[in-house]
Amino acid sequence: MASLPFISFLSYLIICTTLSSDTATATATAAATTIKVSLSPFPHHSPSNAYQVLSNLATSSVARAHHLKHQNPKANATKTNTSSSLLKTPLFPHSYGGYTISLSFGTPPQPLTLIMDTGSSLSWFPCTSRYLCSQCAFPNVDPAKIPTFAPKLSSTKKLVGCRNPKCSWLFGPNVQSRCQDCEPTSKVCNQTCPPYLIQYGLGSTGGLLLVENLVFPHKTFPDFLVGCSIISNRQPAGIAGFGRSVESLPSQLSLKKFSYCLVSRRFDDTGVSSNMLLETGSGDAKTPGLSYTPFHKNQAASNPAFKEFYYVVLRKILVGDQNVKVPYSFLVPGSDGNGGTIVDSGSTFTFMERPVFELVSNELEKQMGNYSRALEVENMSGLAPCFNISGYKSIEVPELTFHFKGGAKMALPLTNYFSFVGDDKVVCLMVVTDNVVNQGLHGGPAIILGSFQQQDYQIEFDLANDRFGFAKKRCV
Ligand SMILES: *[C@@H]1O[C@H](CO)[C@@H](O)[C@H](O)[C@H]1NC(C)=O
Ligand SMILES: *[C@@H]1O[C@H](CO)[C@@H](O)[C@H](O)[C@H]1NC(C)=O
Ligand SMILES: *[C@@H]1O[C@H](CO)[C@@H](O)[C@H](O)[C@H]1NC(C)=O
Ligand SMILES: *[C@@H]1O[C@H](CO)[C@@H](O)[C@H](O)[C@H]1NC(C)=O
Ligand SMILES: *[C@@H]1O[C@H](CO)[C@@H](O)[C@H](O)[C@H]1NC(C)=O
Ligand SMILES: *[C@@H]1O[C@H](CO)[C@@H](O)[C@H](O)[C@H]1NC(C)=O
Repeated sequence: MASLPFISFLSYLIICTTLSSDTATATATAAATTIKVSLSPFPHHSPSNAYQVLSNLATSSVARAHHLKHQNPKANATKTNTSSSLLKTPLFPHSYGGYTISLSFGTPPQPLTLIMDTGSSLSWFPCTSRYLCSQCAFPNVDPAKIPTFAPKLSSTKKLVGCRNPKCSWLFGPNVQSRCQDCEPTSKVCNQTCPPYLIQYGLGSTGGLLLVENLVFPHKTFPDFLVGCSIISNRQPAGIAGFGRSVESLPSQLSLKKFSYCLVSRRFDDTGVSSNMLLETGSGDAKTPGLSYTPFHKNQAASNPAFKEFYYVVLRKILVGDQNVKVPYSFLVPGSDGNGGTIVDSGSTFTFMERPVFELVSNELEKQMGNYSRALEVENMSGLAPCFNISGYKSIEVPELTFHFKGGAKMALPLTNYFSFVGDDKVVCLMVVTDNVVNQGLHGGPAIILGSFQQQDYQIEFDLANDRFGFAKKRCV
């Protein structure tokens, strides 16, 4: 563990706040809005690059937000159909910020580790022995050891042809005009679908489309469209795309719902996991204990790419018992498609556009005015506000609550929005923003609910009934 500073760093700070937030929850119930944190002493541990790692996570969360906010329009198509079943796959937390699942492809099946991402739709894996990944040295990830798929060892892989409708899933109906080598009258065409290149915030990946068997223990889905990436930048693993587009895993498998429980980040890289459930058959019944809010369809004609995202409608954000009065245009996408809130497992820290962020952080600063700001830590970590709580035996932090359409309330556990940073004397808000001030030019979702804020929640994407369900739950 000594070589993994970030992990041990996160471990101790979250364990500490976890322990104390149990007491805190009890207090919060009585006082309704205030969480009282008792700080207990813990070993001094100050890894030299902890700020840098945290700053990288904050930077990548913001870069991810910029990427999600500036999608290119894309085509859609019809869904396939499979019979009912329940599939389970374990979900693991990692210090580079993502949660991974293991999926097997090919004949015989080759297991691969992929990042579970609800903010994008194409699934891809590192592919061939010549796979190149630059800037992929994350904590605990050796780029030379990223497992790759070997197409030549599979008897069922097929390159996607230019005339294959699945090629249009990614490139749109106009791709047909790029199949120059295909005779217009001939049904046979051996030209392949053009290579793809995908940007993800800070990273990117490129390769060729395959159709291949996606293999679960008791069920195989043939002709699953998947990217065989041969070159990537900043990708610690491949991606399983759980977005809403036709090429996503839920669309290709005709899932009725999928659900997960993100184990606490203090289990990063430890091998601890929770089950992710994929359901192809389910009724209208709500899962007992979950609160639901409808998914919102962003119908903006200007950018159909936003249809890829899972929008939910936020009614209010409360800091303590104060409604911070976020303007409606940020809470619900307008006719131009901009604004609104999405749920994204591929972002680490929740992103809020600056005007929203400032409402929240100003209120937080007001209510925490007794603690001095730790500006130097803010500077080094990329997080703000941070408070110097040196000398306090316990501190009071206001609750952060999201009220959704339909009445569902998400009162975040303290550990999902406040953490010790660097040492035991400073706590920071784990929500990020950017410095883009001209909001008129600032497209896309205004609020992105990241995985850090989803820790220890049972989260359900009920696709059949078009609703988002959640409940607090210890995932392990
Ligand atoms: C996408 O779907 C919409 C409505 O569901 C439809 O009008 C449109 O033609 C589709 N586009 C493509 C390229 O299939
Ligand atoms: C899906 O397949 C089942 C059985 O194969 C069939 O009865 C059903 O109508 C199909 N549903 C759709 C939406 O095509
Ligand atoms: C496509 O087929 C033609 C005719 O059969 C052949 O000459 C050509 O080499 C093939 N191209 C590829 C890329 O396989
Ligand atoms: C700040 O400190 C003063 C004096 O100790 C106390 O009365 C007040 O309640 C504190 N305010 C908050 C928000 O904790
Ligand atoms: C926190 O405050 C204490 C005492 O007021 C000071 O000695 C210490 O340097 C501060 N720490 C940070 C990180 O600002
Ligand atoms: C933040 O860091 C930069 C570069 O390291 C430095 O120039 C700047 O003065 C620092 N700001 C504060 C508030 O510490």
